[in-house]
Amino acid sequence: MELLKHPHHSLFIFVFGLVLVFPSALSWKDAVTHVHQFVIQEASVKRLCKTQHVMTVNGMYPGPTLEIKNGDTLSVKVINKGKYNVTIHWHGVRQMRTGWADGPEFVTQCPIRPGGSYTYRFTVRGQEGTLWWHAHSSWLRATVYGALLIQPREGTNFPFAKPDRQSTLLLGEWWNANPVDVVREATRTGAAPNISDAYTINGQPGDLYNCSTQDTVVVPISSGETNLLRVVNSAMNQPLFFTIANHKFTVVGADASYVKPFTTSVLMLGPGQTTDVLISGDQPAGRYFMAARAYQSAQNAPFDNTTTTAILEYKSAACSSANPIMPRLPAFNDTPTVTAFSTSFRSRERALVPAQIDESLFFTVGLGLNNCPPNFNASQQCQGPNGTRFTASMNNVSFSLPSNFSLLQAHIQGIRGVFTSDFPAAPPRVFDYTGNVSRSLWQPATGTKLYRLKYGSRVQVVLQDTSIVTPENHPIHLHGYDFYIIAEGFGNYNPKTDSSKFNLVDPPLRNTAAVPVGGWAVIRFVADNPGVWLMHCHLDVHITWGLAMAFLVEDGVGKLEAIEPPPEDLPICS
Ligand code: C2O
Repeated sequence: MELLKHPHHSLFIFVFGLVLVFPSALSWKDAVTHVHQFVIQEASVKRLCKTQHVMTVNGMYPGPTLEIKNGDTLSVKVINKGKYNVTIHWHGVRQMRTGWADGPEFVTQCPIRPGGSYTYRFTVRGQEGTLWWHAHSSWLRATVYGALLIQPREGTNFPFAKPDRQSTLLLGEWWNANPVDVVREATRTGAAPNISDAYTINGQPGDLYNCSTQDTVVVPISSGETNLLRVVNSAMNQPLFFTIANHKFTVVGADASYVKPFTTSVLMLGPGQTTDVLISGDQPAGRYFMAARAYQSAQNAPFDNTTTTAILEYKSAACSSANPIMPRLPAFNDTPTVTAFSTSFRSRERALVPAQIDESLFFTVGLGLNNCPPNFNASQQCQGPNGTRFTASMNNVSFSLPSNFSLLQAHIQGIRGVFTSDFPAAPPRVFDYTGNVSRSLWQPATGTKLYRLKYGSRVQVVLQDTSIVTPENHPIHLHGYDFYIIAEGFGNYNPKTDSSKFNLVDPPLRNTAAVPVGGWAVIRFVADNPGVWLMHCHLDVHITWGLAMAFLVEDGVGKLEAIEPPPEDLPICS
């Protein structure tokens, strides 16, 4: 991955793939449309001494970095030359009225079949910072992902001194296997999928793994300069700590919104989250490891406990052969550090958080175990704990995707029988969510249930972790929206006492909330974007098990409050 040297240039060319940049005749001065072509193709990638054949965009792993300005339009033609169905999701992009370009398979489109293509066209408005894109089909996103950098709108600047340099760090997860096979095997056996063999930074495991040292990513810095690091957790199933030896971070943004700056020596990102930080070249010229490893909140669950590294290298130390200095990382289960970090976020401006709400929702999020179905071969297909199969749910509904229509198409065309609109506003049974939960509550019902929202309604959702199977920190992501996280805490949410903790002044605006392990988070948003929007845990193993639901946001009155018509080339299922 190249590091960005001239971040403010709107004209740029990538080495791979066709890139044209031209002013769009219809938009205001200086807003441009960036045209890209993404060819989904298999490539051989050698990591950890072994070669794997993995899906990529344009043969690149990770895929190309897209760089735009706030206000620009992207037009990305995806051509599927691979052997799997695929879709691409633009993680965190609001997609205002352009839900057809959002990308989750069977939610806003049917998959792009091998040999097919689809052009995603959308405009980024009012978002600045770091987002990313990834495949949203099976486990292809393990290798099909890349950064989406959104520079300040033309004619404006960062709300902080302009950094001298910008570097993007995509944290990823690597298997010595085809990730699609890993999830297929888990779906067959009902057991948890194999853990990964390495974490990566910009696709490279780094110095602590076999056969990796020669390709370790080097991030340059000069003494006295400020570098804006854009950190993305694009790992499949693991929240990650990230730190750099002897350097402090000033956090300035997250999920493409600016935050009130605060300093910290360690970040924690759930999969899906991004954090923009400034670092200064204020240490003796030398080489310093940056490192990421697991934050593992689920007890007794196997996880990849390895550490990925890259090297922060002072220009004047580039020829040094001294070993880089290694930072100290928090313990794997260091929840207090996570809490201190996540409760430090404040939006930079006074937030436009709704003070009154129209919809007060309470969603449990958690795992479950299904008893072995009678027609299953228990020894082969029920290899979860005690002869069960793993599952997961929200409000006791394990989400199942349709296969004949996308949910959005079914909604817009009024096709019946694809989904129901009865997703419950609260759990069907009230219980001690974070206590010792009766085994009779461990088995959810399966359904394709949506929750209907009137255009413009002001929504509050309490996301409540459960201790079913195990409590765990769940990164809950909502498509099509940013939401304010107005409070979080541990144990069961108590509406009488916990509402006193609400921050309605400057809560952070995010697209993914890391719901505390054995705890809760309260989010608010205004349903101003019509369409069908998936909300799910961004641990892919959990979405595989059904930890998801979707909102159906109705059109408002008038054309500008309605979703645009579907593009001509929208993939349909048949
Ligand atoms: Cu990155 Cu459905 O999400």
